Amino acid sequence: MAEATFDVVVIGAGPAGYICAIRCAQLGLRTACVDQRVNNGGEPAPGGTCLNVGCIPSKALLDSSLHVEQLHQDFTKHGIFVDTVELDIPQMMDRKDRIVAELTDGIGMLFKANGVTAIHGYGKLLTEHHVEVTLVAGGQTPDILSSRHVVIATGSEPMSLPGLPFDGEHIIDSSAALSLPSVPKVLGVIGAGVVGLELGSVWRRLGAKVTILEATENLLPAADLQIAREALRQFKKQNLNIQLDCRVTGATAMNNGCEVVYIQGEHELKLTVDKLVVAIGRQPNTDDLFDPATGLTLDSRGFIEVDENCLTGEHNVWAIGDSVRGPMLAHKASEEGVAVAEQIATGQGHVDLNVIPWIIYTDPELAWVGLTEANLKQTERSYSKGLFPFAATGRAKAQGNTEGFVKILSDSATDQILGIHMIGSHISELIGEAVLAMKAKITATDLSKTIHAHPTLSEAIHEAALATHGRAIHITNR
Ligand code: FAD
Ligand code: NAI
Repeated sequence: MAEATFDVVVIGAGPAGYICAIRCAQLGLRTACVDQRVNNGGEPAPGGTCLNVGCIPSKALLDSSLHVEQLHQDFTKHGIFVDTVELDIPQMMDRKDRIVAELTDGIGMLFKANGVTAIHGYGKLLTEHHVEVTLVAGGQTPDILSSRHVVIATGSEPMSLPGLPFDGEHIIDSSAALSLPSVPKVLGVIGAGVVGLELGSVWRRLGAKVTILEATENLLPAADLQIAREALRQFKKQNLNIQLDCRVTGATAMNNGCEVVYIQGEHELKLTVDKLVVAIGRQPNTDDLFDPATGLTLDSRGFIEVDENCLTGEHNVWAIGDSVRGPMLAHKASEEGVAVAEQIATGQGHVDLNVIPWIIYTDPELAWVGLTEANLKQTERSYSKGLFPFAATGRAKAQGNTEGFVKILSDSATDQILGIHMIGSHISELIGEAVLAMKAKITATDLSKTIHAHPTLSEAIHEAALATHGRAIHITNR
């Protein structure tokens, strides 16, 4: 067997792995990145779930479908009338695919520019920091890599419901739901989590009748309750039919669709759909990934066990991103990639898991960072709350998007900001300020003394900070 030697071998080129590989190379480490993913043309497709079948294609379709919704609903309010609206779904998909291709090609170029050796194959960790590579399409690359350090960044894949396997036709996962060739008349979704809400919104805006069946009694239990309630109210207004407290007991694929049987409360109900998207969470890609003789261990859900620095039970073997504990988010994965590269090169590097933003890109968007009111009540910590509605800002009124609010939670004793929660249009671009405020551990008073440009949506953050002290200007303080 041919052998090659590196300082670092990264397995997986998603947002965890490719960022880690580039940072390692920047720090002067001889680095290889092994990734197995192929695109529709059989070519290497670095970028992982996020670029290929996750963050980027979903946002491309969310943007396309939002234009459609605005044409139908919002433009007339601005005095803009369009006679006919025609949809070309293949062209919409083509646009999405081109965006994905440009970004994945870009990673190949970044690898070259930084001197990362890209290897297209399946990597398996053997003992003594050897990585066995099964190449996707032959070639000259060695099939055993030896390395001082190995970083596992193999990501995750959609979970199916027991007894309800994906068939790619009627019962589909999020990847297939991002590539439907036409708009289904009736779409069922199991799971009103992030995928269910985003992809349910895409197809509803494009004309599908969408029903989402969710197991929990409350929508988005991890979000602040007030935000989740407002979100549910808004989604209902849009005819996104979300049914809570549902237990799916079976589904049968039929000629042209699928029949889902579920129990809600005391009642057994049936839902007949053209397509059924199962979006009940994701599981780590850790099957047959390492020789059991290595020191790696998996938890009960298949995640690789790591310490606070992402070090596994094996010396110099690290694991990051969706394959380990913590939120399954691209930016968390990437930060772990950077931190591990810096750990390897300098012995220092850290990710603050307490300050990770969440965004759900529906309309209105939902975004938050830090603790919720429910978290604070559990710890019996005394807190102040400042809430400011977008309806009281000039910019939201000018845009015609007045739904939603910003809520800031701060410690009553120290004034430190503990959580910032938002619902509204375009707020995905506002949450960065909230993350910075929390990371810098500034107080609500500091935030309220920071000048925010007028007229912008960010004024709602300023006013919410003032409201924590009962000092908001454009609403009546209670
Ligand atoms: P992945 O992106 O899954 O990458 C791992 C890569 O490793 C994959 O390409 C895989 O094929 C490859 N691989 C696996 N095993 C091996 C092996 N043994 N050898 C070689 N290669 C291997 N997150 C956000 O933050 N924002 C969003 O807007 C967002 N939207 C999303 C939308 C959807 C529809 C989905 C499904 C997910 C979304 N996510 C989003 C989540 C985000 O995609 C993941 O958190 C992120 O991709 C995790 O990065 P990763 O590098 O850990 O894993
Ligand atoms: P999720 O964990 O966000 O949501 C799954 C939902 O399905 C939950 O509400 C859960 O209660 C429900 N559920 C589970 N089993 C069920 C059952 N048998 N019947 C009915 N409902 C059931 O998982 P999802 O939506 O699949 O997304 C996976 C992950 O991908 C997310 O957690 C997130 O980390 C990431 N993601 C992030 C996005 C973003 O940042 N905007 C967008 C999409 C995905």
